[in-house]
Amino acid sequence: MQSLINEEDFIDNAYDKLAYLIPRKGLNDIKGMDYLAFSAYIGDPNVAPGGWTTIRNLFDHIHVSDQDSILDVGSNTGHSSFLIEYYSQAKVVGIDIRKDLVQIAEKIAKEISSKAEFYDCDIKALPFDDETFSIITTTGTLAFLSEGHDKALCEMRRVLKEDGIVIDTCLYYEKEPPEHIVKEASKVLESDILDYNLEEYIKLYKKCGFQVKKSYALPTLQNKTTQNEVIDLIVQREEYLCELENQPFESEVKELLQEKMCRMFDTFSKNDEYVKGEVLFFEKSSLGRI
Ligand SMILES: C[S@@+](CC[C@H](N)C(=O)[O-])C[C@H]1O[C@@H](n2cnc3c(N)ncnc32)[C@H](O)[C@@H]1O
Repeated sequence: MQSLINEEDFIDNAYDKLAYLIPRKGLNDIKGMDYLAFSAYIGDPNVAPGGWTTIRNLFDHIHVSDQDSILDVGSNTGHSSFLIEYYSQAKVVGIDIRKDLVQIAEKIAKEISSKAEFYDCDIKALPFDDETFSIITTTGTLAFLSEGHDKALCEMRRVLKEDGIVIDTCLYYEKEPPEHIVKEASKVLESDILDYNLEEYIKLYKKCGFQVKKSYALPTLQNKTTQNEVIDLIVQREEYLCELENQPFESEVKELLQEKMCRMFDTFSKNDEYVKGEVLFFEKSSLGRI
């Protein structure tokens, strides 16, 4: 894919497909959407902390060839997997527990001629043989699990080749957050998020047989666009997509979108005051390639 299309066009294309492959919905459907379905609907698949540049930069730190097989854990609508495939040219498999999101990822893959494969399954019971993958990537999916972090990591370790590596672009709490901040973020994300600091995060991996080999901090996000500008852009996008589908864009829908986004973005910006991003490279054994 890389040779056929430049980076920006590739990314725009994948996002466009996300817009056109999800039909516009009415008030009640939008009301009933949980965080992940709503994020996909508004075109915000939150690829990784720091966005697509975080994924691109990973490949300055590891050597990957087209002989590698990469498992992307928590692939959502496939955006991280598509980028990993684009930059690595390796075989990429994405897994996510949400069938609705996996189905969207499969449709986008077809549209953009990606060879990435997607499976709906639980990270705690991966349907792959031992030592299948040379690299496992995850964009902080562990923090989305309400329980079973050890089991998830044991499964990741099992399907990883002996000299394989896990790359986790994770978010952790740099300062201890007040309880209500974590509670509110968990409520919006609809799962009990992990309130770990970096040391605890690394300890969790160590407990499951991984050694941290390398890490670097993600730059603090400098959002030039304000929250209201983002909301306006997403409302304009919705209006445009409704027009394309010959559907009315009702004022109640507009207000609901604004209300849902406001709650989501407000909660995240309060949470972000305590959070930092780190890219962690773990090895399964000393045979590792880093
Ligand atoms: C931060 S999102 C990942 C975003 C993704 N990398 C992208 O490009 O859009 C975390 C994902 O983890 C998935 N997830 C949560 N629990 C899971 C589990 N037990 N097994 C597999 N995936 C899970 C969620 O459904 C969600 O899509």
